[in-house]
Amino acid sequence: TEVIENGLIGSDLPPAYDDLYEDPEELPTPEDLSEMLKEGTKDSHTKAENTPFVKDFLRGNIKRKVFELVTVAIYHVYSAMEEELDKHQDHPALAPLYFPAELRRKNALEQDLAFLLGSEWRQHSDTAPSQATQCYVERIHAIGRTEPALLVAHAYTRYLGDLSGGQVLKKVVQRVLKLPASGEGVEFFSFPQISSHAGFKQLYRSRLNATDLDKEMCERIVEEANRVFNLNIELFEEFEEIMKALPAEENVAGVPLHDGKGDVSK
Ligand code: HEM
Repeated sequence: TEVIENGLIGSDLPPAYDDLYEDPEELPTPEDLSEMLKEGTKDSHTKAENTPFVKDFLRGNIKRKVFELVTVAIYHVYSAMEEELDKHQDHPALAPLYFPAELRRKNALEQDLAFLLGSEWRQHSDTAPSQATQCYVERIHAIGRTEPALLVAHAYTRYLGDLSGGQVLKKVVQRVLKLPASGEGVEFFSFPQISSHAGFKQLYRSRLNATDLDKEMCERIVEEANRVFNLNIELFEEFEEIMKALPAEENVAGVPLHDGKGDVSK
């Protein structure tokens, strides 16, 4: 059931917004695309969460230089993805999932790069896409050209992921890299147009389920979503290598860093 229209998200939310699935008949079933995606990418999600880079990140073991490179990489990824989502905004599979005002990340990432690297960031030598970034970007453009419906998998994996884990990551970065509490440098993690992340995710799932895609196409979208997880994992592996190659940075936040086994400063 559609309870709200595009553009009503934010302060004008009707109360029904958080209760989209209150009626048990509206709970997603295993045949729904939202459930197929959630179940069908469970193993990939576990694998992504357990990469050394992600585990280090959650422990606060992140260097400023690497965070800059992460921001550059995802800037290229979102530029490509949002360019294709704009281009195909009228495609029947993508139109119900088109939420530029609420979800668009490219502008936030540009602001973060200006803060982290300076206003001349576009000329900065570190802003060229890395190898894993290029692979990811090429995949986005390739399916944009040949099979835009599969872009559903890209939007799902990134946007629902960002809405799920972003707040924790934002706090880690602010604390460890001593970024200002105003949010400068980490605008990527904030969705000012979305008042309830959980509510928005429910709306997004209901839109996924309302698209008129046959079972075979849904299965191919799940397959593509697993591919997207892997493209992200390849990015994390690249960051981990860069991180290992960098000299130790001063522990800027002045807090002990844990490796999970004990206090490394002892
Ligand atoms: C959902 C945690 C990394 C993509 C979730 C949820 C949690 C979570 C708790 C469930 C939220 C809910 O159902 O309301 C984490 C943690 C991570 C991590 C702790 C490690 C830092 C990732 C990565 C990606 C990702 C790297 C992809 C690049 C997703 C997606 C969902 C999700 C797509 C939505 C699943 C669905 O409801 O269909 N995550 N996540 N996550 N995460 Fe992650």
